[in-house]
Amino acid sequence: VSLEDAYLPFYFGWFLRHTFQDELEGVAKGFLKTLDSLEAFKKHLSDFPREGEDVVKVEQYFQHTGPLHCTTKFCDYGKAAGAKEYAKSQVVQQSYGSMTELKLQALFLTPRTLGARVALTQEQLQLWPSDPKEEAGSNLPPGSRAHITLGCAQGVEPVQTGVDLLQILQLQQQGQEGEKVEDLELGPLSYYGNGIWVLSLREPIIGPALFSSFHG
Ligand code: A2P
Repeated sequence: VSLEDAYLPFYFGWFLRHTFQDELEGVAKGFLKTLDSLEAFKKHLSDFPREGEDVVKVEQYFQHTGPLHCTTKFCDYGKAAGAKEYAKSQVVQQSYGSMTELKLQALFLTPRTLGARVALTQEQLQLWPSDPKEEAGSNLPPGSRAHITLGCAQGVEPVQTGVDLLQILQLQQQGQEGEKVEDLELGPLSYYGNGIWVLSLREPIIGPALFSSFHG
């Protein structure tokens, strides 16, 4: 392994400024609290695995550690396909360390993950690598998978958040609108079955983020 290769990060992404991170964590907390109080949500609680007789409280169900971010390229220290090419690309080199504004258009929740869907600009899409998982078997546009993991259920890896988001987008693409359950302050809440909930933000949440990498 050359010295240069050894420096490939675990992943590249946009890291939320701490003020934005605090804001988003507050929004997510409020969202979960609201869900816990909704009759419609309680009706579908059996979608969530439960331990013994304890009723699930989604407020305590999801955990996350580390800085909130939107992963662009998962490099796995160079083991992931295309990691080196991505790290060396001109756009990555030029954008590294620069600030951008991330626009969040929806919050979503499944029995596995809690996430925010990110709407990328044309400029941000330049930093989005081609993603076989995103493209496989669907005609979702590049960047569809862009998200921020806000939390995972116990034993679930954060990589699941993108998988869950793609599943939601595929359902929508197949014409499933979801059942509109409630108009919340932040926007309409829809239920897609199997414990999948989507809150479309009436006003997108926008905040600053730094394009950088995580080395672990
Ligand atoms: P995400 O971007 O959905 O949050 P971990 O903590 O599991 O090792 O992952 C570190 C970060 O890299 C997380 O942000 C995670 O998911 C992302 N990630 C992990 N594995 C992959 C993968 N195979 N493809 C894309 N992103 C991944």
